[in-house]
Amino acid sequence: MSGQTIQDSVREHYGAAARQVLEGKQAGCCESSCCGGSKDPISSNLYSAAETGAIPEGAVLASLGCGNPTALADLREGETVLDLGSGGGIDVLLSARRVGPTGKAYGLDMTDEMLELARENQRKAGVGNVEFLKGEIENIPLPDASVDVVISNCVINLSADKRKVLAEAFRVLRPGGRFAVSDVVVRGEVPAEVRRSMELWVGCVAGALEEGEFKALLEQTGFTGVDIEPTRIYRVDDARGFLASAGLDVDLVAKDVDGRFMGAFVRGTKPA
Ligand SMILES: C[S@@+](CC[C@H](N)C(=O)[O-])C[C@H]1O[C@@H](n2cnc3c(N)ncnc32)[C@H](O)[C@@H]1O
Repeated sequence: MSGQTIQDSVREHYGAAARQVLEGKQAGCCESSCCGGSKDPISSNLYSAAETGAIPEGAVLASLGCGNPTALADLREGETVLDLGSGGGIDVLLSARRVGPTGKAYGLDMTDEMLELARENQRKAGVGNVEFLKGEIENIPLPDASVDVVISNCVINLSADKRKVLAEAFRVLRPGGRFAVSDVVVRGEVPAEVRRSMELWVGCVAGALEEGEFKALLEQTGFTGVDIEPTRIYRVDDARGFLASAGLDVDLVAKDVDGRFMGAFVRGTKPA
């Protein structure tokens, strides 16, 4: 698939997910394929009751992340935060509360329906220090050195040009600024067929980075203090039904799946 085809299919998929929430339903993780009617093992229970209670229901229903980056990002009063691929806006609204009225939270998304949903959620939340921008995370529509913290929740795995995304995050961060991102990461070598099936299960359209590869890419971009911390490790039984329906002998491939895919918190700093 070309980069453009990947982006078109991502836009279509998340446009449909946003429309579902605008109609009052829960956004599906990856349609019937991954959840099989049970609780989504990737996006469920990521936020505390205090967090979900503080924001509109529409933002909670639209949550399609794989972590809780604002809980780990150590946001401070007065900071400017940018969320790459902000979806229905859950992490932008939580960031806005953390940075307070002297700070600002931007959400960036390329899908019109997600932006509509996010702006509706902002209106319901009644917060003024939030702005949702339309654009691609590969070409961030903000000036150099204008942001203190870049967050993101399960979006970089969807990009066909991850090097460009990291370079753009680096460019918009101020010196000393932090990269504080949740994403799906792969641990070690996994056979191609198994990897592709797991990525379909997780919903990674362009593919998750292997953890060593992610670290190396961040360091090549110029980030220091790079670290990847697992926050949720996916087990073979979470994906058993999906892998079997993809024609894989699940017991045979279990060692290549179990514990090899994870939701992780990825951090780095732009040198001061
Ligand atoms: C998996 S959802 C995550 C949404 C949100 N971060 C959350 O935690 O609920 C991915 C979001 O990223 C957006 N997205 C994906 N690729 C993008 C890109 N290249 N540029 C801008 N937005 C993108 C999609 O439109 C969608 O809203």
